[in-house]
Amino acid sequence: MALWGGRFSGESSALFKLFNDSLPVDYRLVEQDIQGSVAWAAALVKVGVLTEAEGQDLKAALGALLVEVAEDPQQIIASGAEDIHSFVEQALIDKVGDLGKKLHTGRSRNDQVATDLKLWCKAEGEGISERLTKVRSELIELAKREQQAVMPGYTHLQRAQPVTFAHWALAYVEMLERDISRLDDALSRLNTCPLGCGALAGTAYPIDRYELAASLGFAAPTLNSLDSVSDRDHVVELCSAASISLMHLSRMAEDLIFFNSGEAGFIELADDVTSGSSLMPQKKNPDALELIRGKAGRVYGSLVGILTTMKALPLAYNKDMQEDKEGLFDVMDTWSICLDMTALVLSGLKVKRDNTKAAAQQGYANATELADYLVAKGMPFRQAHHVVGEVVVKAIADGVAIEDMTLTTLQGFADVIEQDVYEILTIESCLNKRDVLGGTAPNQVAAALAAKAR
Ligand code: ARG
Repeated sequence: MALWGGRFSGESSALFKLFNDSLPVDYRLVEQDIQGSVAWAAALVKVGVLTEAEGQDLKAALGALLVEVAEDPQQIIASGAEDIHSFVEQALIDKVGDLGKKLHTGRSRNDQVATDLKLWCKAEGEGISERLTKVRSELIELAKREQQAVMPGYTHLQRAQPVTFAHWALAYVEMLERDISRLDDALSRLNTCPLGCGALAGTAYPIDRYELAASLGFAAPTLNSLDSVSDRDHVVELCSAASISLMHLSRMAEDLIFFNSGEAGFIELADDVTSGSSLMPQKKNPDALELIRGKAGRVYGSLVGILTTMKALPLAYNKDMQEDKEGLFDVMDTWSICLDMTALVLSGLKVKRDNTKAAAQQGYANATELADYLVAKGMPFRQAHHVVGEVVVKAIADGVAIEDMTLTTLQGFADVIEQDVYEILTIESCLNKRDVLGGTAPNQVAAALAAKAR
């Protein structure tokens, strides 16, 4: 039976019920709905709406319901209730009769659903935060394992300058740290309790909302009833934090897919995160990474979805807002599994150091070094850049690396070049010279790693 039958003489159409019911989605809020109901019952006792004994009975029945739904979650959907709030209320009435009908005094599903969803976001957010931290530590472990590996760094997907593999891994650690702080920030802002705001104007009972908020583990109550029941900023913010995080994960996935390609051959992915081809026996496909890259798209879709649903909604609650959960639940599930998958991929990843080093030595990645060398000999940088450009054209034409050109050939481009040029053209020299905070010099990377590992 619906919670609102009194004003109606006709039945809902089956199509309307199918269209209107949110239970198939919001059944996931069952724990939070029960938790919120226990707190509300206690608040009603404090203002004298319920006796102590009634409060105790409701608490016990809600506790029993929590155990029952944990044992048999199927019963929630099977109930055919309109939404999770209707399910909990009906189940309570089935247990304690008329007393169950008193629980909704002074409460609306509008402040109830807002509270449930924030409780869910808090719990789910903690799980995500742990997973972000786990990926961060897997990256740090990978950087330590592969600290000796050198590879080409790219711009425009062209070999630009050599970097250490650990430097690459630590770049993603920076992104992960911003993701963690963005999530923390969203979680601290949503840590306010809408319960007691009623349908839109505030409850008519003198509830101590500070106490109520604290009893549910919120930092504070919300301060305006109209805003409280119609605010879904937290849904937008979590979808946004997830989108940015998935953007980072998909960039990492893309880097690794490229590193894993036959063309690059820089890494080996573990068997447990790759698949074969049904036709081509030689293949080992980076499916896990491609799916992370692909799932980012669906997460962005949910962000745009909730923004669009909320856009131009008049105050206060409107049923449009029931559309907030499906996308959010999918976003948090997807974010969570993508983080778990990323951690697993990183834990089994091996760098093919000979290949990365050979690649770093090709592609004239030390051309900047030669320009800097000419600058050190007194040539203005712009001129040095031009001269080295000509050197590279000649090297390409001859099919050799810069360091393989004879001194006489090099001196043909600039007579200040001497024997000591060969020393600065080595990979080690290229790396060691980037000895600035944030640079790729091995001692800078070691210091960065030590600071992260602390
Ligand atoms: N299922 C609804 C939702 O998720 C609960 C709130 C219903 N409120 C109402 N006024 N019909 O938004």
